[in-house]
Amino acid sequence: MTAREGRSRGRFISLEGGEGVGKSTQLRRLAKALRDRGLEVVETREPGGSPGAESIRGLLLQGEQERWTAEAEALLFAAARADHVARSIRPALDAGKWVLSDRFLDSSIAYQGGAGGLGAATIRQLHQVGSHGFLPDRTLLLQLPAEAAADRAAKRDGDAGDRIGSRGADYHAGVAAAFRAIADEEPQRFRIVDASGTAEQVTERLFAAVGDLL
Ligand code: TYD
Repeated sequence: MTAREGRSRGRFISLEGGEGVGKSTQLRRLAKALRDRGLEVVETREPGGSPGAESIRGLLLQGEQERWTAEAEALLFAAARADHVARSIRPALDAGKWVLSDRFLDSSIAYQGGAGGLGAATIRQLHQVGSHGFLPDRTLLLQLPAEAAADRAAKRDGDAGDRIGSRGADYHAGVAAAFRAIADEEPQRFRIVDASGTAEQVTERLFAAVGDLL
């Protein structure tokens, strides 16, 4: 691809992290900062982000803890992602827009692959089938100490977290460890961003972490 063609295509950025690290707020703030630079920015999320994937979101996040086997849960996330990529993300990038997604593949690797025990390789295989292995240009991993994140999530959700958010502390410790491991494996794509401090400070760090893509 030539530099000119490269510039005409948008960039795909995912925000990742455990529960309560402030991803959703920061996604909105980063989108605004990029728009202020004159870019067209689409904000999206997983599971969801297209009509089909939003339908699958309800299946994944509602109902009994034991509703799905680990395998079925991973397949549903991969199916939702396949629809999201084909129907929302790729068309927006082809139109020259930037796409910011609240979670993407790495959440499946950390939750279903790491904490859920299926392994990263299996999740990557599902992603290969569903989305031809499509990856973000940059993945921003927001990190907070576990206790601070649990406090923030509890304030937000009260006692009624969703099917996955409400899993125990061991599960979430497994998620955090898996995120750190994937970030170490792919230093080109990942930036680990400290999520402590004021919202303004965190947004500045995120903006700096995509500066080379502008
Ligand atoms: P959401 O309400 O979007 O939570 P959050 O604000 O924490 O992002 O719910 C998404 C939940 O789904 C969250 O608990 C993480 C989980 N999840 C997975 O387990 N695997 C995945 O691939 C994705 C995208 C999300």
